[in-house]
Amino acid sequence: MTDSAETQSNAMWGGRFSAGPDAIMEAINASIGFDQRLYAQDIQGSRAHAAMLAAQGIISAADAEAIRDGLLNVLSEIEAGAFPFRVALEDIHMNVEARLKEIIGEPAGRLHTARSRNDQVATDFRLWVRDQCDAAIKGLEALMRAALVQAEAGAGWVMPGFTHLQTAQPVTWGHHMLAYVEMFARDRSRFIDARARMNECPLGAAALAGTSFPIDRQATAAALGFDRPMANSLDAVSDRDFALEFLAAASICAMHLSRLAEELVIWSSAQFRFVALSDRWSTGSSIMPQKRNPDAAELIRAKIGRILGATVALFTVMKGLPLAYSKDMQEDKEQVFDAADTLMLALAAMEGMLGDLTVNRANLEGAASSGFSTATDLADWLVREAGLPFRDAHHVTGTLVALAESRGCDLPALSLGDMQAVHPAITESVFEVLGVHNSVASRRSYGGTAPDQVRAQVARWQEVLG
Ligand code: ARG
Repeated sequence: MTDSAETQSNAMWGGRFSAGPDAIMEAINASIGFDQRLYAQDIQGSRAHAAMLAAQGIISAADAEAIRDGLLNVLSEIEAGAFPFRVALEDIHMNVEARLKEIIGEPAGRLHTARSRNDQVATDFRLWVRDQCDAAIKGLEALMRAALVQAEAGAGWVMPGFTHLQTAQPVTWGHHMLAYVEMFARDRSRFIDARARMNECPLGAAALAGTSFPIDRQATAAALGFDRPMANSLDAVSDRDFALEFLAAASICAMHLSRLAEELVIWSSAQFRFVALSDRWSTGSSIMPQKRNPDAAELIRAKIGRILGATVALFTVMKGLPLAYSKDMQEDKEQVFDAADTLMLALAAMEGMLGDLTVNRANLEGAASSGFSTATDLADWLVREAGLPFRDAHHVTGTLVALAESRGCDLPALSLGDMQAVHPAITESVFEVLGVHNSVASRRSYGGTAPDQVRAQVARWQEVLG
């Protein structure tokens, strides 16, 4: 085997070839530069296949043993960084097999009985993506725990809730954090669902049609931790929907991360000062000494672009492919590798930032108390206590807001006389609902922002996460 295959045809498939590929052909064809990441899955799949071939009497027990030992040898060479990856051998599958041949000789040639690279790569890649689902689930659970710590501490801290990024109604910090816990929980369940659906084994589908050898697909599926073998060989080698589901779940999760990142950027600005990021999660400026920049949050906000880009790229690769395998599908891996790496990094960074975040309660509460945030409470009071229809109450409240605005004060600073001049039914007790703490405490409807509700939800999530 040589690295420059100019005159030599490929030993794995070159029987009918008299010349090797053009250098550019080799460059466009080879995937070893990236699919070497699948080495552990490839060796795991080959070991399961060889053991099954021997159990079925398709190869001898001695050959299976030689193959097993040889594969373990290859594994340790790769892990030691001593493996000679060769571009001329295209991909990880042929690199491993060729090296196996160098180590154990003739029995290596029996490993590929009743198998094709098509079912091999589909199996390896499924195993890899399955692991990434597990990693995403773990990362999300850690992030949810970090958000829950914030939610528990701040169950009663009042902050402005926004719509249109305009002050809307007071909410609690805990409630805001729990909103993300809910989103991340749905992200987690998407990875759990995708994992369950992808957990079927393509191995044994061979090139596309199955095989005439008496293989045992239940055995290889079980050995690799799959729930069952895939039921259609054409489907097994030619779909990548499992990778697309992973990417779709990753895209949605990255979108959620990006929104929280955006809030951290806004909240840590000098204009808001709702939170301060720790030194560990900030950067400075080489020219402006006062700066503390939220770079990690900004990068998390940006990384959705890569993950969504990978999703679009793989959809585009797949959408016009006739059954079964086409080489186009080799383009699946780099996208998924990059998206998975990006997602795990973003999850870890967000967990770290939330864990270290200092919340400025006084600024949160000050902001919550301005901007007429309890105007809805006033309107609700007029409905409840004075019997006004809500539309009329809305109008009366609007008049009072305009009055306060013209005076340059907030609603609680208006006198009872001012209020009664606008509507005679208003009494002293209205002032009880104009304070932000009373406002949040009154929102006790299920899923509402009242501190008791928030504490109950925190307890529920703590139990779910164990
Ligand atoms: N490197 C290839 C891939 O990633 C492996 C499958 C090759 N199959 C084939 N028929 N040429 O898709």
